[in-house]
Amino acid sequence: MIDRSSRTAEHVALFRALETVRPGGGLFRDPPARRLLPRRHRAVVALSRLPGVHDALVRYIDRRWSGGPRASAVVRTRLIDEWLASSLAGGARQVVLLGAGFDSRAHRAVATPSNAGASPSDCGVVPSGGGAAFSAGAAAPAGAAAPVGVVPSGGGAVPSTGAATPAGVVPSGGGAAPSTGAAAPVGVVPSGGGVAPSTGAVTPTGAAHFGGGVAYFEVDHPATQATKRRRLGRDARPGVVFAPADLTVDDLGAVLRAAGFDPALRTVVIWEGVTNYLDDASVDATLRGLVALCPPGSTVIFTYVDRGVLDGTATFAGAAEWHDAVRREGEPWTFGLDPAEVPGYLRERGLALTEDLSTRAAAQQLLPASRRAEPTAEFYRVARAVVPGGTTDPTEVR
Ligand SMILES: C[S@@+](CC[C@H](N)C(=O)[O-])C[C@H]1O[C@@H](n2cnc3c(N)ncnc32)[C@H](O)[C@@H]1O
Repeated sequence: MIDRSSRTAEHVALFRALETVRPGGGLFRDPPARRLLPRRHRAVVALSRLPGVHDALVRYIDRRWSGGPRASAVVRTRLIDEWLASSLAGGARQVVLLGAGFDSRAHRAVATPSNAGASPSDCGVVPSGGGAAFSAGAAAPAGAAAPVGVVPSGGGAVPSTGAATPAGVVPSGGGAAPSTGAAAPVGVVPSGGGVAPSTGAVTPTGAAHFGGGVAYFEVDHPATQATKRRRLGRDARPGVVFAPADLTVDDLGAVLRAAGFDPALRTVVIWEGVTNYLDDASVDATLRGLVALCPPGSTVIFTYVDRGVLDGTATFAGAAEWHDAVRREGEPWTFGLDPAEVPGYLRERGLALTEDLSTRAAAQQLLPASRRAEPTAEFYRVARAVVPGGTTDPTEVR
């Protein structure tokens, strides 16, 4: 458990900032990442823009921090961007960034049907073959790599109307709906100086929405979130709701409901780079809390480390070095899963696994070996699961 702003979150943001300025284009563009960095890391990004320096710097990072943390983070970011875009194209209208760190997805648009024509500088997802940004729900442009493991969630049985919530769905936790003019629930801070989104007042044009009427919630450890809000300053996207929470202590359901989360809207949860810092009980409680809150057809995207790294039952190249590095930062890995057990583990908690792949497997498709052979991890995995009963096609679930 951490008691100060996360350093590993800064490392991931550094890797994304470097990918954004990669000469010739990277796997995505994340312009706000640089702003979210401490000064010393911003200097590294500036240095990388000098002719010839980027390549050498990235190679140095990959040698110095072995095991592939940089390229694994970059690949998972791209993959999750694609999965997010796919869910948004399928009608999801809420995004929860759980353990958001310095992930800027709420503040940079990820390509959706409504902004598929936008320039790459506006959108997070850039085809690995170059060219204009595209929606993962649409055909990729010629020359672009096909999205990895993307299973479009179309044919929605859970209609996302963007309209007023059915009567009776109100935030609990004591907070009156902001549309009534009452104060926002304690601890919940919408950016832009407004009130938290009301479950009764959310509309596609409401302040909490952008990029096609999508509400974003950032849940994170209070210390990391305070740092992020300070660094973002006025660049925080208006309407994004910041809800501080310690996932080892707080009741996520109560936190989200107090933040104005609408249980009637299909939701995408992104829990990226976080489970490995928690424990059995808090991962279990978080998953159960999400399933109780999110309607059928909602998606939970998460990463995990192979438990073999922690209990010594498996050996992976570079895993010990990577783990040593995060331990030195005061953020040791404390949780992992056995990939063979993940389908059953999720089923017991009301979720159906649809994808689960290592960052190395993702890299094989996203980083064509001829152009970029970069170290990624076999033990660091990215998974996607759905809350069954809505749009889920049983043939997609295992
Ligand atoms: C490696 S960072 C990943 C951040 C972000 N998801 C990303 O991919 O850039 C780990 C994140 O987990 C968060 N975290 C760790 N322990 C936590 C806890 N007990 N409760 C809430 N968040 C926690 C940290 O604050 C940090 O933001």
